[in-house]
Amino acid sequence: MSIRMPFFNNRHEPIKETLTEEIVLEKVPEHVAIIMDGNGRWANRRGLPRIAGHKEGMEVVQRIVRVADKLKIKILTMYAFSTENWKRPKAEVDYLMRLPKMFLDKYLPELIEKNVKVNVIGELSVLPPHTLQAVHQAMEKTKDNTGLLLNFALNYGGRNEIVKAVKQMVDDVANGKVAKEDITEELFEQYLYTHNFCDPDLIIRTSGEKRISNFLLWQSAYSEFWFTDVLWPDFTEETLKEALQDYQTRIRRFGGV
Ligand code: FPP
Repeated sequence: MSIRMPFFNNRHEPIKETLTEEIVLEKVPEHVAIIMDGNGRWANRRGLPRIAGHKEGMEVVQRIVRVADKLKIKILTMYAFSTENWKRPKAEVDYLMRLPKMFLDKYLPELIEKNVKVNVIGELSVLPPHTLQAVHQAMEKTKDNTGLLLNFALNYGGRNEIVKAVKQMVDDVANGKVAKEDITEELFEQYLYTHNFCDPDLIIRTSGEKRISNFLLWQSAYSEFWFTDVLWPDFTEETLKEALQDYQTRIRRFGGV
């Protein structure tokens, strides 16, 4: 039998009529990945500097972690900084690099209390020491947690990840660890940052843009996509539930019939 959960707003009243439908908890996607876009526009519209949008975006991350935890989503991957984001003005990049520490200083105790496991994927070697230290510490402190896996993509690029995997595999063929004939999709996946997790079932992108922007290129082969005009800082529990509700209407065939 399905367990059903009605939609509620922050005041715990059922929310607007179009959302009175329910989420089937048994059919909640295991892995949800989010391209958090629109922070800059959110700030511009309020006459604020772009970094104000990123700060509000950081608060929304924690609000969505709480919802994901409640709905028993297993993995939440958040695109926090791409390999292309270094092209932004230095002050904005510096701020984005400070956000993980700001977030973890403020919310790590709550994440621990919620049994959340923190993880990071991306090319971490070039991150500033203060960023690395904060994420390593959070990973260490939560490594035995068994609840939601909160996975930040930080200095992440899908093409970079694939090229890095190819190079490692070529090394392993050269040093005899792997035979060319044994290379399969399953083996290749072992070389990706995401080797420990399932592929994303649902990828959400906010702010009206409809592109993948180098996010989880290999892993998204059979993901469902959901786009919304809502800017990331305005993204709420209801927006996530709207995405999940839509996801639950999809028939996933994985190439079959
Ligand atoms: C894209 O919006 C957003 C980013 C490049 C940064 C995303 C980061 C966060 C939401 C905060 C991350 C939080 C933690 C805890 C690390 P944009 O700036 O490109 O927006 P725009 O398209 O409106 O200019």
